[in-house]
This record gives sequence, structure tokens and C-alpha cells, in this order.
Amino acid sequence: EINFFFPKQQTLAVIKPDAMEDHKEEILGEICSRGFTITQLKELVLSRDLAEDFYSQHRDKPFYNQLVDFMCRGPCMLLVLTKENAVEEWRSMMGPTDPAQAQETAPGSLRARFATDILHNALHGSTSQHHAQEKIQFLFGDITSDLNSDGVFDSTL
Ligand code: TYD
Repeated sequence: EINFFFPKQQTLAVIKPDAMEDHKEEILGEICSRGFTITQLKELVLSRDLAEDFYSQHRDKPFYNQLVDFMCRGPCMLLVLTKENAVEEWRSMMGPTDPAQAQETAPGSLRARFATDILHNALHGSTSQHHAQEKIQFLFGDITSDLNSDGVFDSTL
């Protein structure tokens, strides 16, 4: 018997309704060419309840209602991305929240290229492994049973 240890990490990515209209294929192409594996994928129009729960940590922010409206306005693509260091790499590929800042500091990033403004900013990505696991569980159910407590695959062949 040989034991393999795959130090893979999962993150949650969302292609938001603004980017679904024109940039979905290009974004998916970049995800794959950067070596992420798409381990779960779901395209749907979020219900208001789901969008409110998804962004519940921003409930008290002035932009919350606009954000929820925007997230429900058309289909989103929800993706579980798997790779070493997936959380940080996907954040870095997206670039800063505000595309004006993204254009200054990360001109090649996906938000610099595809986002319109800070609200219509094309993409979501988890900020930590803990948040990633929580949102993946919330959106996809219990697919994390083969992850150990560090959030990495631990596979015995
Ligand atoms: P946040 O979690 O701060 O950023 P990120 O998506 O980069 O993790 O904010 C969540 C979303 O809320 C963000 O993607 C767009 C929206 N938003 C605004 O509309 N206005 C704002 O001033 C901020 C900070 C966020």
C-alpha cells in the first residue's frame, strides 16, 4: 500500500451576473490555464434569500441592498477551485475589490479587465480557508468529507 498526500486547498469562486454576460468563457479558460481544477460547478440565479445569506456579514453596510439586488439579477456561476494555495492564488488572480484600484496595482488581474465598478466587480473569492469551507458547505452541501481538519485532501490509495 502506498500513501499519497496531496496538499491541495479548495476555494469558492463566483462569476457574478455582470461577468456572466460577456466574460464567462474567458474567465473559465484562465482558471484552467492557471492549473486550478474545477471540482464543483453550478450555474444558477440566486434567490434573494440565498444572496442575503451569502453576504450576511455585510448586512449593516450601506451597499448591502444594492449588492443583493445585483447578485440576483441574472445567473451566477459557482465554482469550487482546487489547487495548492488556492485561496490566496484566486484572490490574487481576481485583484482588488475596486477595479479602479485593480487597474492601478494589478492591471492584468481579472477585475482590472472585467469589472465595471466596486459593486459590479465580476467575481467573488473566499478570503480564508475557513470562509471557503463554510461557503462551499452552504452552497454545495457536504462535499468536504474527504478534507482533513486543515482543509487539505488526505488521500490513501
Ligand atoms: P468585500 O467582501 O469587502 O470584498 P471582496 O468581494 O473583494 O471580498 O465586499 C463584498 C462585495 O460587496 C464586493 O465584492 C462588492 C461589494 N462592495 C460594494 O459594493 N461597495 C463597497 O464599498 C465594498 C467594500 C464592497
